[in-house]
Amino acid sequence: MGDGFYLETMGCQMNVVDSEQIALLLGELGYTPRERPEDADLIVLNTCAIREKAERKVLGHLWQFKPLREANPRLLIAVGGCVAQQEGEKLLKEIPHLDIVFGTQNIHRLPELLRDAREKRQRRAETAFFDEAERLTRFPERCATGAVSRYLTIMQGCDNFCAYCVVPYVRGREVSRPAADVLAEARALVAQGTREVTLIGQNVNSYGRKSEGEPSFAELLTMVHDIKGLERLRFVTSHPRDISPELVACFATLPKLCRHIHLPLQSGADAVLRNMGRGYTAARYLERVEQLRAACPELRLTTDIIVGFPGETESDFLETLEMVKRVRFADAYLFRYSPRPGTKAVTLPGAVPPEVQQERFDRLLAVQDAISREIWASDVGRTLPVLVEGESRQGSGQLFGRSTWGRVINFSGDVALVGRVVPVRITASYHNSQLGEPV
Ligand code: 5AD
Ligand code: SF4
Repeated sequence: MGDGFYLETMGCQMNVVDSEQIALLLGELGYTPRERPEDADLIVLNTCAIREKAERKVLGHLWQFKPLREANPRLLIAVGGCVAQQEGEKLLKEIPHLDIVFGTQNIHRLPELLRDAREKRQRRAETAFFDEAERLTRFPERCATGAVSRYLTIMQGCDNFCAYCVVPYVRGREVSRPAADVLAEARALVAQGTREVTLIGQNVNSYGRKSEGEPSFAELLTMVHDIKGLERLRFVTSHPRDISPELVACFATLPKLCRHIHLPLQSGADAVLRNMGRGYTAARYLERVEQLRAACPELRLTTDIIVGFPGETESDFLETLEMVKRVRFADAYLFRYSPRPGTKAVTLPGAVPPEVQQERFDRLLAVQDAISREIWASDVGRTLPVLVEGESRQGSGQLFGRSTWGRVINFSGDVALVGRVVPVRITASYHNSQLGEPV
């Protein structure tokens, strides 16, 4: 047996796609995947820097690997992704048993870095950013997995510089991939058996804006939608400021487009939104939600909210709480504000004490949990079309799939159903999933 690699992916969809590319590269170098770090000759962590907690997790992991290195001197350890980009050389200094640091735009250099580490015991950190023309040649190349549902990157980076966010610093400027390439990859995925494609980007609504001659996001969505054999289409993430009337209309006109949109609110208070640099007011956000619901009454929304942003007062927080009650999100990802080095928010006055952050978080969570529970419980007794993605556990006779709203539904059925859309009657609703029976 040749060398094995253990790859762990943290963070968002971008990292999931990057990890597929890393796995492909390592496969070409003769490495085969391993389930446990103990069994590997190469450990790769693909990391997330969005909040401090995510970053601390990386350091914790790296220290855990120290005894493995002592037991297996052949073992190489590499860190990629957003923490690698942010910290660079510093990681090599802090962690003596770390061999390689590769930034978000340096995945393609992994073979060379591995060779130098193996042959010359060279410890290197590569975190350069490249210009647009070069980056366009490096949109992730993907392995054929035959998975029913897959992500497809349409753009990388972000130009928004929201005051709290590290993404523009660790992912670089926004670059849109040519529509022809997006369509070619979508067709290739469908030909490999994929039935659902999720178009991903940090801010998909600004797709193509910087590139002349490229379609708008709504036009791109329509083109992908029309691919024969594709069953369902999704996209993340949308910036509320950039939702166009054309995109709203897509929810009425494109039958394969799932009835779900993730629309990060961040705060329901105008003063906070202004300090965050979000470019919309609470009223504007609500107006967009109303337009979306007018186009598609069955639409369910999910969101991200940050509590305890610098300067957030109790009355600001109450406005967020009000907004959550008004919109009735099906799900909300709630975060306590975490200062990120280099971002504008770290210079803002009015830090909210941790205990106040926690208390607001708990109150918001209680309200949102009740709303989520109600919305998902309202599916019980209904029969929903479910795209079957796979077996819940191998050989269990249990399948899992998703409704148009994206929630996981478990039910019993034959593996032959994987890849098909089948009617399932929902019998119970839990915290993160639903239970059903085939009809
Ligand atoms: N602190 C807390 N939450 C953050 N997010 C982004 N940056 C921070 C931060 N510094 C949240 C936002 C974003 C989601 C992916 O993570 O809500 O939408
Ligand atoms: Fe971060 Fe704002 Fe860009 Fe989203 S839009 S990645 S929150 S800077």
